[in-house]
Amino acid sequence: MTAVESARALRDVTPASPEVEAPPPEVKPEAPKPSKRRSIPSIAPRRRTVDKARYEALTAGRKALLCVDAVTVSFDGFKALDNLTLVLDEGELRCIIGPNGAGKTTLQDVITGKTKPDSGCVFMVGDHTDLTQLDEHEIAQRGICRKFQRPTVFQGHTVFENLELALPGSKGVFASLFARLSRAERERIERTLELIGLTEHAHTRAGLLSHGQKQWLEIGMLLAQEPRVLLVDEPVAGMTHKEMERTAELLNALAGERTVVVVEHDMEFVRSIARTVTVLHEGRVLAEGSMDAVQNDPKVIEVYLGES
Ligand SMILES: Nc1ncnc2c1ncn2[C@@H]1O[C@H](COP(=O)(O)OP(=O)(O)OP(=O)(O)O)[C@@H](O)[C@H]1O
Ligand SMILES: [Mg+2]
Repeated sequence: MTAVESARALRDVTPASPEVEAPPPEVKPEAPKPSKRRSIPSIAPRRRTVDKARYEALTAGRKALLCVDAVTVSFDGFKALDNLTLVLDEGELRCIIGPNGAGKTTLQDVITGKTKPDSGCVFMVGDHTDLTQLDEHEIAQRGICRKFQRPTVFQGHTVFENLELALPGSKGVFASLFARLSRAERERIERTLELIGLTEHAHTRAGLLSHGQKQWLEIGMLLAQEPRVLLVDEPVAGMTHKEMERTAELLNALAGERTVVVVEHDMEFVRSIARTVTVLHEGRVLAEGSMDAVQNDPKVIEVYLGES
């Protein structure tokens, strides 16, 4: 047994006492590493602003508001978005359609900052910031709001209270509900109630609303944040025919003041609201134009409309 081993054995079985003290373990100073003169390779930070020439090229001659420029997103080598470029104009109502797996949800994830692309950028006109470099709440603060497919409203609160809670600067359920609303806030809620067609249900608990009414309430809650761009994913899934008609009216009423992007599979509904339709396929834009032009495009018929 070496001296170090016997000292370790003694330390392990003997309680620490002032009389018996194990010799301190031998600590050999580490040999100094030969200094490397090479510097650490610098990783260039990604640009936080968009390329000026691309900005000009995408926005020239139109009332563009939001641009998605050459975005690629891969999952394990598979390209969910493949060099996708898309420009949305101010106040337009754009429908995005395409077969399952075309990349529609991934596109919304990139715009809202949930997914970071491998390459490409997203920007709003009037600002050269590349939004893909921001996090989700910074993007939301710039006025891009998203409505997911399932409505998420406060079931136990009334329609009015839900809208109150959605007002900017709301401090949470209790603080908001016991705070006094200003006249401007009250009027704003009343205008929203009218827009979403729920004035008569202002004091109904949200949990008692129909599926369609909940969807409208959630759209109303997003409107309280005064978005510049509203992304809506499959708004009419599960709705009755009458609710679909009402939703078409609502989305039409919203466009103009803000840009509305609707991702939808229901072609009858798309026909009822569409002005410009973008067809995605395999992460790329397959066709874009009026509903009539897109519907008669042989490529679109082959990969999408032909199957429905
Ligand atoms: N997190 C992920 N990991 C791996 N693959 C993914 C991921 N998210 C999406 N994908 C794949 O990327 C492709 C595009 O998916 P995406 O959900 O964007 O399509 P979609 O157009 O929204 O389809 P759907 O109409 O079915 O909603 C699909 O092949 C999907 O399987
Ligand atoms: Mg999807």
